[in-house]
Amino acid sequence: MNAINKMTNHFYFGGCDTIELAKKYGTPLYVMNEEHINERCQEIRDDFLNKYENTKAVYASKAFLTMKMCKIIEREGLGIDVVSGGELYTAIKADFPMEKIIFHGNNKTLDEIEIAVKNNVGRIVVDNLYELELLNSVAQAFGKNVEILFRITPGVDSHTHKYISTGQVDSKFGIPLKGDIINEAVKKAMDLSNIMLMGFHFHVGSQLFDHSSHIKAVKILVKLMDDMKKKTGFVTRELNTGGGFGIYYKKGDEPKPLTYFTDAIMETIIDECKTYGLLIPLVIIEPGRWIVGEAGITLYTVGAIKEIPDVRTYVGVDGGIPDNPRPALYGAKYDVVVANKMDQEKDEVVTIAGKCCESGDILRYDLEVPKLHSGDILAFKSTGAYNYSMSSNYNKIPRPAVVMVCNGEDQLMVRRETYEDLLKNEL
Ligand code: LLP
Repeated sequence: MNAINKMTNHFYFGGCDTIELAKKYGTPLYVMNEEHINERCQEIRDDFLNKYENTKAVYASKAFLTMKMCKIIEREGLGIDVVSGGELYTAIKADFPMEKIIFHGNNKTLDEIEIAVKNNVGRIVVDNLYELELLNSVAQAFGKNVEILFRITPGVDSHTHKYISTGQVDSKFGIPLKGDIINEAVKKAMDLSNIMLMGFHFHVGSQLFDHSSHIKAVKILVKLMDDMKKKTGFVTRELNTGGGFGIYYKKGDEPKPLTYFTDAIMETIIDECKTYGLLIPLVIIEPGRWIVGEAGITLYTVGAIKEIPDVRTYVGVDGGIPDNPRPALYGAKYDVVVANKMDQEKDEVVTIAGKCCESGDILRYDLEVPKLHSGDILAFKSTGAYNYSMSSNYNKIPRPAVVMVCNGEDQLMVRRETYEDLLKNEL
């Protein structure tokens, strides 16, 4: 999939010459490899859905979402998790089957809840009691019954960046297991006329290489299932175990295979349910990054090169925080190749600087490269997740285009924003 062409010494991605892509579409450019996405979905089907009965997988679309992506996910037989009216709208416009949508969010607005109920979204993951009441009143107004899960804060720490750790006790997400809140919530949901509680959800965190948080959370959740059955008579039919499976970004990363997570999740659920004498619920996983992260690269063109003798060499590129805020936000580090110099010795160490008016706009520190010149093309790898979806127009910089490649073919998926686009909402 990733290859060097010995004739040109160019970096190939998805069978396409990245230098030709840069010429054809300009830079910065997001390139997504559909084949990689298909392979990941296939792996989910083979190693999870077909291996275990009564399972579902949904793609966490916050990682990367376009209408075309909805089509791919639909064709691959997965559902979609959305977290906003905008993500939901994208899926609606792509004619994605609404019963396969799971709607998350810690503070869904009335407007978002109305769109979800009106469009018969498959599951709403209710985060708090305020939302439960609001949802019931909307469902009543529309004369519908809504199937929900409660998001639970399992109180489990995961070993990842603080900003992407979600399952710890002190979290803005979900219903805490402290005190009697969950008990009240379950009773309330069982009483509400237009709500049908189906089960529980948790998500411990993102970019994990270790399944211990998932295992701990599953044990806590199965205990909760038992507690709720005893205290309220509620029988859990669904357990959504979130996403979080880590991918390769940089040297030293050792991502685990999908089954390292899914087998552990399933085995723990089966064992724990047996121990408590509970029926095994439908089990859902919702990976985002794992499906698209390694499927994407970003191409940049080198511009100004500034050498500070004995200090550092800054290599300026035509993108930065607006197309990839992750290095500034999380200290994220990416593997980078010089796409037109794949054969050359790496004998320099440079720092890749973004073009924003902000000292923190550094895309990569201390990168070993061959001698660089203006006009060289850099490929940042593993930018398929949370790059395009987190992009902004900071410094009034238009968003890059997104190109889909597959087996040597390229197709524009999202056109590059224009300066006109930047002003289109201004009155
Ligand atoms: N399910 C829920 C409820 C989530 O909150 C998330 C991610 C996922 C699934 C998917 O997690 P994944 O499989 O992609 O790790 N912007 C951050 C990542 C934030 C993730 C938020 N929730 C980043 O760039 O690293």
